[in-house]
Amino acid sequence: MIDILISENISGAAVDALCSRFQVSRQPNLFENQDALLEAAQSARALIVRNKTLVTGDLMRAAKHLIAVGRAGAGLDNIDVKSANQAGVVVTYTPDQNSISAAELTMGLMIALARNIPQATLDTSGGGWNRHRFMGTELYGKTLGIIGAGKIGYLTAARARAFGMKILAYDPFLSSDNILLCELRAELVELDDLLARADVVSCHVPASPQTKGLINRERLQRMKPTAYFINTARGPVVVEEDMVDALKAGTLAGAALDVRASEPPQSCELNSMPNVILTPHIAAFTREAQNRVTRAVCDDIARLLEGKPAKSAATKFNLPHNRA
Ligand code: MLT
Repeated sequence: MIDILISENISGAAVDALCSRFQVSRQPNLFENQDALLEAAQSARALIVRNKTLVTGDLMRAAKHLIAVGRAGAGLDNIDVKSANQAGVVVTYTPDQNSISAAELTMGLMIALARNIPQATLDTSGGGWNRHRFMGTELYGKTLGIIGAGKIGYLTAARARAFGMKILAYDPFLSSDNILLCELRAELVELDDLLARADVVSCHVPASPQTKGLINRERLQRMKPTAYFINTARGPVVVEEDMVDALKAGTLAGAALDVRASEPPQSCELNSMPNVILTPHIAAFTREAQNRVTRAVCDDIARLLEGKPAKSAATKFNLPHNRA
């Protein structure tokens, strides 16, 4: 029996500290083999993952000694939280620790799209000097449409306000008197209205059956042909073939995608489109965010192993139920 199984690449001082207090098995590639994962999990009391390990109901039922799963990140799409609730396994996660980094990457992509930074870099480093080809657009005075006004959406909108942008927000869980929206002087609107009016649309919703395919052909057609689309949230929210068609037809000016329908993505037309910026799901990848994320998840797992309640449980309970 071991205390903690780590099935992805998670490191840093907090993990080292955990290793000095508990028996930890670090297997950064274990997520690639579900059978091996299932077997290893059966002799662990806690499991720490990022976004690649599939923590299924079968795994939690088979791993009889498992009392806790720690997700180093905000999204819970790889963890069956419903089954964790039934099995009595506490799921702990880090919903806020990487929000600033995600908002900052979103702003970076917004500026890069508006000013053609990646394209101009490529051309100039190849010997070109084409100022007129890279004529850009100011963000000042333009309208940002935020789909999903949670923490990251809010932080992005706050930064965009500092650039002089107007904010539209679509979020079915908020009302127009929401204090944060009022603070940003944001207008809460319906999705179709947001798509029709925004110069930049930025997506900040979790993966769920309700958000899968939300940005499809029909919705893309509602956008201005001069508009840019940014996704730093979850890939399946966008129907990629529909986005390719919109970019090819010129009904959308450009897109920046940090997340993809499958990761790593299959080779696809998006890879070679001049008006597309692609990054490999790095929104949360800053030293600061990763330190916060790792510290928080390690701290909660240590607390649970010592019989103390988790500080940030995604399950209905923060202490294990009916388990060892
Ligand atoms: C998150 O959910 O925290 C980010 O997308 C990064 C990750 O998936 O690990």
